[in-house]
Amino acid sequence: MAAKRIDGKVISAAVLDRCAAEVAALKEKNIEPCLAVILVGEDPASQVYVRNKQRACERIGVRSFTIQLPADTDQQTLLDEVAKLNADPAVHGILCQLPLPRSLDERQLLLAIDPKKDVDAFHPVNVGQITIGSAKLLPCTPAGVMEMLRYEGIEVEGKHCVVLGRSNIVGKPMALLLLQANGTVTICHSRTPNLAAYTRQADILVCAVGKEKLITADMVKPGAVLIDVSINRNAEGKLCGDVDFDPVSEVASAITPVPGGVGPMTIAMLMQNTITAAKQQSGLI
Ligand code: GUN
Repeated sequence: MAAKRIDGKVISAAVLDRCAAEVAALKEKNIEPCLAVILVGEDPASQVYVRNKQRACERIGVRSFTIQLPADTDQQTLLDEVAKLNADPAVHGILCQLPLPRSLDERQLLLAIDPKKDVDAFHPVNVGQITIGSAKLLPCTPAGVMEMLRYEGIEVEGKHCVVLGRSNIVGKPMALLLLQANGTVTICHSRTPNLAAYTRQADILVCAVGKEKLITADMVKPGAVLIDVSINRNAEGKLCGDVDFDPVSEVASAITPVPGGVGPMTIAMLMQNTITAAKQQSGLI
């Protein structure tokens, strides 16, 4: 039997509806959640992401504005912009779209953002909170995956969760959130020998490697849940993930498509974080 297709468009729409209701309730209390986005340079993919984030804000009634800086902006100018946003009580969330131009220091920038306003949850303080299981702001993509599992009624506790990829944005925090949910977690990465030996043991397999058709049907345990975080472009220019979708669908019990799977969840969780940040800064939580 073919696997259930986990629809990120449907689940993200449900999250955004919930967010819209929360924003309306906050506005009743004269709190208007506000997200500031910093975009340095003119990378076309980053411009698309930023536009989509603004659209999501409009949809749920969050105020947002973008500070567009030229590609040759120096580090101090960028840090000064962050400092202004940190000091502005009307701004609840600050997001600097990555990657930055090569001349800029990303680590220093992430350290400069007030952890309370860090809606990406990239600041080391927030990363630490995730590690000890007391985070309020959760990294958007892994939080989106957890939301999908919850929505689909897929229990994590007692499951063997295998995460492929160890990036700071996806792999590492994904493993921590699954661990927090009482999964038994294995992290594999580019230097892991015999990947299939691990993937075949996975009840829940999260793929965030960035390699088309990395996961073939013979590498998947029958009945496993497949979460494909990657967005690759195949030889025909079409978007695809790491999973060989059609054959794997015959083995798995549930699977996220690319596009239309995890992708739409990331922005929805960013909206959730912006609301959480606004509540926190208003003393409501
Ligand atoms: N660039 C690619 N993904 C992300 C993300 O989640 N947040 C930010 N700030 N930049 C990104």
